[in-house]
Amino acid sequence: MENRVEIKRLASALGAEVRGLDLAEVGPDEARQIEGWLREYHVVFFPDQPLTSDQHIALGEHFGELQAHPHLVNMVGEHEKILELHSGRGGVADEWHSDLSFLPEPALVSILKMVKCPEVGGDTLWANLCLAFEALSDPLRDLCEGFSALHNAEPHGRPEVMTVHPMVRVHPETGRKVLFVNEHFTRRIVELSANESALLLGYLKTWVASPRFCVRYRWEQDTVAMWDNRCTQHMVLNDFEGERVIQRVTVMGDKPQGAPPRWEPYVRPGGRSDTSRHDRMLRKYLRGVAGEN
Ligand SMILES: [Fe+2]
Repeated sequence: MENRVEIKRLASALGAEVRGLDLAEVGPDEARQIEGWLREYHVVFFPDQPLTSDQHIALGEHFGELQAHPHLVNMVGEHEKILELHSGRGGVADEWHSDLSFLPEPALVSILKMVKCPEVGGDTLWANLCLAFEALSDPLRDLCEGFSALHNAEPHGRPEVMTVHPMVRVHPETGRKVLFVNEHFTRRIVELSANESALLLGYLKTWVASPRFCVRYRWEQDTVAMWDNRCTQHMVLNDFEGERVIQRVTVMGDKPQGAPPRWEPYVRPGGRSDTSRHDRMLRKYLRGVAGEN
Protein backbone atom coordinates (compact mmCIF):
# COMPACT_ATOMS: atom_id res chain seq x y z
CA MET A 1 0.00 0.00 0.00
CA GLU A 2 2.81 2.38 0.89
CA ASN A 3 4.07 2.98 -2.64
CA ARG A 4 0.68 4.36 -3.78
CA VAL A 5 0.56 6.94 -1.00
CA GLU A 6 1.42 10.53 -1.82
CA ILE A 7 2.34 12.93 0.95
CA LYS A 8 2.50 16.68 0.45
CA ARG A 9 3.70 18.93 3.24
CA LEU A 10 1.60 22.09 3.60
CA ALA A 11 3.69 24.37 5.80
CA SER A 12 7.09 24.22 7.38
CA ALA A 13 5.60 24.27 10.89
CA LEU A 14 3.21 21.33 10.54
CA GLY A 15 0.60 19.70 8.34
CA ALA A 16 0.58 17.31 5.40
CA GLU A 17 -1.98 16.11 2.88
CA VAL A 18 -2.10 12.39 2.21
CA ARG A 19 -3.66 10.79 -0.87
CA GLY A 20 -3.86 7.17 -1.89
CA LEU A 21 -4.97 5.60 1.41
CA ASP A 22 -8.63 4.57 1.74
CA LEU A 23 -9.58 5.40 5.34
CA ALA A 24 -12.55 3.03 5.13
CA GLU A 25 -10.09 0.14 4.74
CA VAL A 26 -7.59 1.00 7.44
CA GLY A 27 -6.31 -1.94 9.45
CA PRO A 28 -3.70 -2.14 12.21
CA ASP A 29 -0.74 -1.68 9.81
CA GLU A 30 -2.19 1.42 8.21
CA ALA A 31 -3.14 2.79 11.64
CA ARG A 32 0.52 2.53 12.75
CA GLN A 33 1.52 4.27 9.51
CA ILE A 34 -0.90 7.11 10.28
CA GLU A 35 0.53 7.39 13.80
CA GLY A 36 3.95 7.85 12.23
CA TRP A 37 2.62 10.68 10.07
CA LEU A 38 1.04 12.30 13.13
CA ARG A 39 4.39 12.18 14.91
CA GLU A 40 6.04 13.80 11.92
CA TYR A 41 3.39 16.29 10.71
CA HIS A 42 1.06 16.61 13.77
CA VAL A 43 -2.00 17.24 11.57
CA VAL A 44 -2.76 15.15 8.49
CA PHE A 45 -5.47 15.74 5.88
CA PHE A 46 -7.06 13.04 3.73
CA PRO A 47 -9.16 14.49 0.86
CA ASP A 48 -12.00 12.54 -0.82
CA GLN A 49 -12.88 10.19 2.03
CA PRO A 50 -16.70 9.86 2.14
CA LEU A 51 -16.75 7.82 5.36
CA THR A 52 -20.03 6.56 6.81
CA SER A 53 -20.55 7.15 10.53
CA ASP A 54 -19.69 3.51 11.25
CA GLN A 55 -16.47 3.79 9.24
CA HIS A 56 -15.62 7.04 11.01
CA ILE A 57 -15.98 5.35 14.39
CA ALA A 58 -14.11 2.23 13.26
CA LEU A 59 -11.22 4.43 12.10
CA GLY A 60 -11.07 6.18 15.47
CA GLU A 61 -11.07 2.91 17.40
CA HIS A 62 -7.71 1.99 15.88
CA PHE A 63 -6.14 4.77 17.93
CA GLY A 64 -7.70 4.22 21.34
CA GLU A 65 -10.89 4.63 23.30
CA LEU A 66 -13.46 7.07 21.93
CA GLN A 67 -15.37 9.44 24.12
CA ALA A 68 -18.56 11.38 23.57
CA HIS A 69 -18.17 15.09 24.31
CA PRO A 70 -18.67 15.62 28.06
CA HIS A 71 -20.83 18.75 27.64
CA LEU A 72 -22.03 19.12 24.06
CA VAL A 73 -24.70 16.65 23.00
CA ASN A 74 -24.94 16.85 19.23
CA MET A 75 -24.73 13.25 18.22
CA VAL A 76 -25.39 11.97 14.74
CA GLY A 77 -28.37 9.61 14.69
CA GLU A 78 -27.67 6.84 17.17
CA HIS A 79 -23.93 7.47 17.17
CA GLU A 80 -23.27 9.05 20.53
CA LYS A 81 -19.50 9.00 19.92
CA ILE A 82 -19.76 11.36 16.97
CA LEU A 83 -19.95 15.06 17.78
CA GLU A 84 -21.57 17.17 15.10
CA LEU A 85 -20.88 20.89 15.07
CA HIS A 86 -23.22 22.94 12.92
CA SER A 87 -22.43 26.59 12.29
CA GLY A 88 -26.13 27.47 12.20
CA ARG A 89 -26.45 26.26 15.80
CA GLY A 90 -23.45 28.10 17.18
CA GLY A 91 -21.01 25.25 16.52
CA VAL A 92 -17.99 27.27 15.39
CA ALA A 93 -14.88 26.76 17.51
CA ASP A 94 -13.36 30.12 16.62
CA GLU A 95 -10.93 30.46 19.54
CA TRP A 96 -7.61 28.63 19.77
CA HIS A 97 -7.83 25.40 21.77
CA SER A 98 -6.60 21.86 22.23
CA ASP A 99 -9.65 19.60 22.38
CA LEU A 100 -10.94 18.95 25.92
CA SER A 101 -7.88 20.44 27.66
CA PHE A 102 -10.15 21.14 30.67
CA LEU A 103 -10.19 17.40 31.45
CA PRO A 104 -7.49 15.68 33.57
CA GLU A 105 -6.90 13.40 30.57
CA PRO A 106 -7.56 15.55 27.49
CA ALA A 107 -8.16 14.35 23.95
CA LEU A 108 -5.32 12.54 22.23
CA VAL A 109 -6.36 12.45 18.58
CA SER A 110 -9.34 14.12 16.94
CA ILE A 111 -10.69 12.85 13.63
CA LEU A 112 -12.82 15.38 11.81
CA LYS A 113 -14.92 14.84 8.73
CA MET A 114 -16.00 17.88 6.74
CA VAL A 115 -19.67 17.26 5.95
CA LYS A 116 -20.53 20.64 4.46
CA CYS A 117 -18.24 23.60 3.98
CA PRO A 118 -18.89 27.10 2.72
CA GLU A 119 -17.72 28.03 -0.74
CA VAL A 120 -15.35 30.60 0.71
CA GLY A 121 -13.95 30.89 4.21
CA GLY A 122 -14.29 28.68 7.28
CA ASP A 123 -10.69 27.49 7.03
CA THR A 124 -9.11 25.91 10.12
CA LEU A 125 -5.70 26.82 11.51
CA TRP A 126 -3.45 24.58 13.57
CA ALA A 127 -0.35 25.63 15.51
CA ASN A 128 2.66 23.52 16.46
CA LEU A 129 3.11 23.88 20.24
CA CYS A 130 6.52 22.13 20.22
CA LEU A 131 7.92 24.83 17.96
CA ALA A 132 6.26 27.50 20.08
CA PHE A 133 8.11 26.19 23.13
CA GLU A 134 11.44 25.70 21.37
CA ALA A 135 11.40 29.25 19.94
CA LEU A 136 11.14 30.91 23.35
CA SER A 137 14.28 32.39 24.90
CA ASP A 138 16.21 30.23 27.36
CA PRO A 139 15.07 32.17 30.47
CA LEU A 140 11.39 32.10 29.47
CA ARG A 141 11.55 28.38 28.62
CA ASP A 142 13.06 27.73 32.02
CA LEU A 143 10.42 29.82 33.80
CA CYS A 144 7.53 28.19 31.94
CA GLU A 145 8.81 24.71 32.82
CA GLY A 146 8.37 25.59 36.50
CA PHE A 147 4.70 26.48 36.15
CA SER A 148 1.37 24.71 35.96
CA ALA A 149 -1.84 26.13 34.52
CA LEU A 150 -5.52 25.89 35.38
CA HIS A 151 -7.86 24.96 32.51
CA ASN A 152 -11.65 25.01 32.72
CA ALA A 153 -14.80 24.54 30.64
CA GLU A 154 -16.10 28.07 31.09
CA PRO A 155 -16.75 28.38 27.32
CA HIS A 156 -19.28 25.55 27.75
CA GLY A 157 -20.90 27.30 30.71
CA ARG A 158 -19.19 24.83 33.08
CA PRO A 159 -16.41 26.79 34.87
CA GLU A 160 -16.48 24.32 37.76
CA VAL A 161 -15.09 21.61 35.44
CA MET A 162 -11.42 22.35 35.84
CA THR A 163 -8.04 20.76 36.05
CA VAL A 164 -4.38 21.70 36.30
CA HIS A 165 -1.73 20.63 33.76
CA PRO A 166 2.00 21.27 33.55
CA MET A 167 2.45 24.38 31.44
CA VAL A 168 5.14 22.54 29.53
CA ARG A 169 4.15 18.95 28.86
CA VAL A 170 6.39 16.29 27.38
CA HIS A 171 5.03 14.44 24.37
CA PRO A 172 5.06 10.77 25.42
CA GLU A 173 6.08 9.48 21.97
CA THR A 174 8.52 12.07 20.66
CA GLY A 175 9.91 13.36 23.97
CA ARG A 176 9.55 16.94 22.68
CA LYS A 177 8.41 19.64 25.05
CA VAL A 178 5.10 21.36 24.34
CA LEU A 179 3.91 24.80 25.46
CA PHE A 180 0.47 23.61 26.56
CA VAL A 181 -1.62 26.76 26.91
CA ASN A 182 -4.58 27.84 24.81
CA GLU A 183 -6.87 30.84 24.47
CA HIS A 184 -10.16 28.99 24.98
CA PHE A 185 -9.63 26.85 28.08
CA THR A 186 -6.47 28.01 29.92
CA ARG A 187 -7.42 30.45 32.68
CA ARG A 188 -4.56 30.95 35.08
CA ILE A 189 -0.92 30.21 35.86
CA VAL A 190 -1.25 28.56 39.25
CA GLU A 191 1.99 29.79 40.82
CA LEU A 192 1.56 33.49 39.87
CA SER A 193 -0.75 36.20 41.16
CA ALA A 194 -3.79 36.95 39.02
CA ASN A 195 -2.20 40.07 37.56
CA GLU A 196 1.12 38.40 36.82
CA SER A 197 -0.67 35.43 35.29
CA ALA A 198 -2.83 37.66 33.08
CA LEU A 199 0.27 39.36 31.73
CA LEU A 200 2.37 36.27 31.01
CA LEU A 201 -0.50 34.02 29.92
CA GLY A 202 -1.81 36.76 27.66
CA TYR A 203 1.59 36.96 26.02
CA LEU A 204 1.95 33.19 25.66
CA LYS A 205 -1.55 32.74 24.20
CA THR A 206 -0.62 35.23 21.49
CA TRP A 207 2.82 33.67 21.04
CA VAL A 208 1.53 30.14 20.45
CA ALA A 209 -0.69 31.48 17.66
CA SER A 210 2.14 33.21 15.78
CA PRO A 211 1.74 32.59 12.03
CA ARG A 212 5.16 30.94 11.77
CA PHE A 213 3.95 28.08 13.99
CA CYS A 214 0.77 27.57 11.94
CA VAL A 215 -0.79 25.89 8.96
CA ARG A 216 -4.09 27.07 7.48
CA TYR A 217 -6.26 24.55 5.67
CA ARG A 218 -8.89 25.15 3.01
CA TRP A 219 -11.55 22.47 3.24
CA GLU A 220 -13.41 20.46 0.65
CA GLN A 221 -16.41 18.30 1.44
CA ASP A 222 -15.40 14.75 2.56
CA THR A 223 -11.91 15.73 3.61
CA VAL A 224 -10.93 14.01 6.85
CA ALA A 225 -8.39 15.61 9.17
CA MET A 226 -6.59 13.91 12.03
CA TRP A 227 -4.47 15.76 14.57
CA ASP A 228 -2.54 15.19 17.76
CA ASN A 229 -3.99 17.40 20.50
CA ARG A 230 -0.97 16.75 22.74
CA CYS A 231 1.23 19.05 20.66
CA THR A 232 -1.15 21.27 18.65
CA GLN A 233 -3.95 23.75 19.06
CA HIS A 234 -6.47 24.82 16.44
CA MET A 235 -9.24 27.30 15.62
CA VAL A 236 -11.84 27.88 12.93
CA LEU A 237 -11.71 31.11 11.01
CA ASN A 238 -15.19 32.52 11.50
CA ASP A 239 -15.25 34.52 8.28
CA PHE A 240 -17.86 32.67 6.26
CA GLU A 241 -21.49 32.85 5.26
CA GLY A 242 -23.70 29.82 4.85
CA GLU A 243 -23.49 26.43 6.48
CA ARG A 244 -20.46 24.66 7.82
CA VAL A 245 -21.01 21.21 9.31
CA ILE A 246 -18.35 18.95 10.73
CA GLN A 247 -18.43 15.59 12.52
CA ARG A 248 -15.73 14.57 14.95
CA VAL A 249 -14.72 11.47 16.83
CA THR A 250 -12.35 11.95 19.71
CA VAL A 251 -9.76 9.48 20.96
CA MET A 252 -9.11 9.94 24.64
CA GLY A 253 -5.60 10.56 25.89
CA ASP A 254 -3.51 10.27 29.01
CA LYS A 255 -2.58 12.65 31.78
CA PRO A 256 -0.13 15.30 30.57
CA GLN A 257 3.32 14.76 32.04
CA GLY A 258 5.92 17.40 32.72
CA ALA A 259 8.32 18.67 35.34
CA PRO A 260 6.64 19.28 38.70
CA PRO A 261 5.97 22.96 39.53
CA ARG A 262 8.95 24.64 41.16
CA TRP A 263 6.77 26.85 43.38
CA GLU A 264 3.68 26.49 45.56
CA PRO A 265 0.32 27.66 44.20
CA TYR A 266 -0.11 31.40 44.64
CA VAL A 267 -1.95 32.32 47.82
CA ARG A 268 -2.69 35.97 48.27
CA PRO A 269 -1.07 37.17 51.47
CA GLY A 270 -3.33 38.55 54.19
CA GLY A 271 -5.90 35.79 54.66
CA ARG A 272 -9.46 35.45 53.46
CA SER A 273 -10.47 39.10 53.72
CA ASP A 274 -7.81 39.90 51.19
CA THR A 275 -8.97 37.31 48.66
CA SER A 276 -9.34 38.78 45.20
CA ARG A 277 -12.25 37.64 43.07
CA HIS A 278 -9.61 36.66 40.53
CA ASP A 279 -8.30 34.07 42.97
CA ARG A 280 -11.66 32.42 43.64
CA MET A 281 -11.36 29.86 40.89
CA LEU A 282 -7.87 28.85 41.93
CA ARG A 283 -8.89 28.59 45.59
CA LYS A 284 -11.90 26.49 44.64
CA TYR A 285 -9.68 24.15 42.69
CA LEU A 286 -7.14 23.90 45.50
CA ARG A 287 -9.88 23.21 48.07
CA GLY A 288 -11.23 20.47 45.79
CA VAL A 289 -7.78 18.86 45.52
CA ALA A 290 -7.26 19.12 49.29
CA GLY A 291 -10.72 17.55 49.82
CA GLU A 292 -9.75 14.56 47.67
CA ASN A 293 -6.62 13.86 49.70
FE1 LIG B 1 -11.60 21.62 18.40
